[in-house]
Amino acid sequence: MASLLKIDVSPRGDASYSRQLGETFLASFQAAHPGSTVVTRDLAKNQPTFVDVQWIGGAFTPPDQLTEEHKAALKLSDDIIAEVKAADHILITTPMYNFQVPAVLKAWIDHLVRVGVTVNYTANGPEGQLHGKKVTVIVASAGEYPAGTPGAAYDMLTPYLKHIFGFIGLTDVTFLGAGGASGIQYGKISEEDWKKPYVEKATELAKA
Ligand SMILES: Cc1cc2nc3c(=O)[nH]c(=O)nc-3n(C[C@H](O)[C@H](O)[C@H](O)COP(=O)(O)O)c2cc1C
Repeated sequence: MASLLKIDVSPRGDASYSRQLGETFLASFQAAHPGSTVVTRDLAKNQPTFVDVQWIGGAFTPPDQLTEEHKAALKLSDDIIAEVKAADHILITTPMYNFQVPAVLKAWIDHLVRVGVTVNYTANGPEGQLHGKKVTVIVASAGEYPAGTPGAAYDMLTPYLKHIFGFIGLTDVTFLGAGGASGIQYGKISEEDWKKPYVEKATELAKA
């Protein structure tokens, strides 16, 4: 039975293009994987805390020496890691903000990447501890950053997510870049026409 973990990021609720395409993906995923389980973590409604000194103390203390304060500070990280470990497929729906991931998604990543838990440092260098999972990232952006064009250099979100997921062992990462949303705002294209190719792509990706 397939299990999907959906991480939603945009604060724009139903108006969010990345969330809308995520819902398309979800419907197609459920149709292609009958009986699948779905867990959703909404980072806009349930914003992760930032790493603080108690978190750092806990993360670098051997598990058998953790204080109650450390355990409390690591609780969200433990929950986020458990959700990712339990999933076969992780879907992230996110806007691009300032050419990067929004701060709430970075905060989620800071809880997920933990030395001794999701990545180990060995004599051969860092070794990711999460394996055999697919990651799909749906990114909505006002601009377009096609690979192989000078504009691609502005997209620091895609290479960053590829790198950080690879660092913890998640190397099967697919991106659906839903760029050019500013065309809707400027009346160059209707919302329906803009969304059409991305809806088709999201539907296809979910069947894989
Ligand atoms: C704070 C902020 C920063 C943004 N930065 C960028 C950016 O760097 N590049 C870009 O193409 N679009 C940028 N945008 C536009 C959003 O990516 C775009 O509106 C997208 O549709 C938002 O995703 P959503 O529809 O899922 O909420 C930014 C929007 C906001 C609110």
